[in-house]
Amino acid sequence: MTDKLRVFSGIKPSGDPHLGNYLGAIRNWVADQERYENFFCVVDQHAITVPYDPEELRRNVRQLVAVLVACGIDTERSVLFVQSHVPEHTELAWLLTCNTPLGWLQRMTQFKDKSVGQGESVGTGLLTYPALMAADILLYQAAVVPVGDDQKQHVELARDIAGRFNSLYGETFVVPEPVIRGVGARVMGLDDPTRKMSKSVAGQFHAVGLLDEPKVIQKKFSRAVTDSQQEILFDDNRPGVTNLLTIHQVLSGLTKEELEARFVGKGYGDLKKELGALVAEALAPIQQRYAELTDDPQVLDRILVAGAEQASVVAGQTMERVRQSMGLR
Ligand code: AMP
Ligand code: TRP
Repeated sequence: MTDKLRVFSGIKPSGDPHLGNYLGAIRNWVADQERYENFFCVVDQHAITVPYDPEELRRNVRQLVAVLVACGIDTERSVLFVQSHVPEHTELAWLLTCNTPLGWLQRMTQFKDKSVGQGESVGTGLLTYPALMAADILLYQAAVVPVGDDQKQHVELARDIAGRFNSLYGETFVVPEPVIRGVGARVMGLDDPTRKMSKSVAGQFHAVGLLDEPKVIQKKFSRAVTDSQQEILFDDNRPGVTNLLTIHQVLSGLTKEELEARFVGKGYGDLKKELGALVAEALAPIQQRYAELTDDPQVLDRILVAGAEQASVVAGQTMERVRQSMGLR
């Protein structure tokens, strides 16, 4: 037993992991590993809520696990596993779905955004997805859920579901708290700085992949959309330059004032060039470790088996309590 607070967080294997995932989530998971007891999950059952290709999903899951380890998730200190390897996630998801009012799910902005124009043909899983996410978190009795800004509403829903469950069936779940870091919590697309950087947006110049080669990274930044003004300043009305400066700020550790001073009298070209180099340099050791790790597929197999075993112990204990509370045993 440990008296550290328990963390749970998840990431979808729905495409290539990008700089937004790294700055908004993964980097913080890695930095706080010592402080917490950690569970990190590649949520493959969340990736199937929209149309997908099974072969690609299989590849993406392995790639993402390797990327997480390459980014610094240390399997000695953190449990790293794949959601579908622990069947309690879907069992609890159903039990929670039965205890979640439809209105709570219909209110989720991600559901509203992603279901636009699909009418009645929208997948039911896209609607009930936050109940599965609540199950992920509650299964591990996690107190802390570090995520990017876009997931705040879902974590708050998990809190509401936990609270409601506890009052209906007796104290069963720890009520989790979202933890969102200020800077880097919402990295925007390079091709359109009014949209968050996302795995599901098409476009060669939208996202910087964590495995992109330095040349590609430089090129993507050189094409980043900005505006027709000259000065390089943080300004909410100028999302392009603000996004670039924010990425710089997270990686360089400079303050806003130091950054603005650094670029006085310089142009967007200078900022983009420097930023491309900074990002490539930050990703180089990750890419190096990724190459080493994927050299021997058995290393990854062992990580996955061990992770699922460790996660199953906790998941099994929680489920036993939940079944009892709900009268299913
Ligand atoms: P996803 O790729 O949607 O599974 O997200 C995994 C984690 O990365 C979640 O904690 C998200 O909040 C975070 N994340 C995803 N996109 C961004 C972004 N553009 N900026 C910051 N964080 C992000
Ligand atoms: N829904 C999250 C996303 O799209 C991924 C996720 C699934 C998650 N289950 C989770 C995040 C539990 C935190 C905790 O990014």
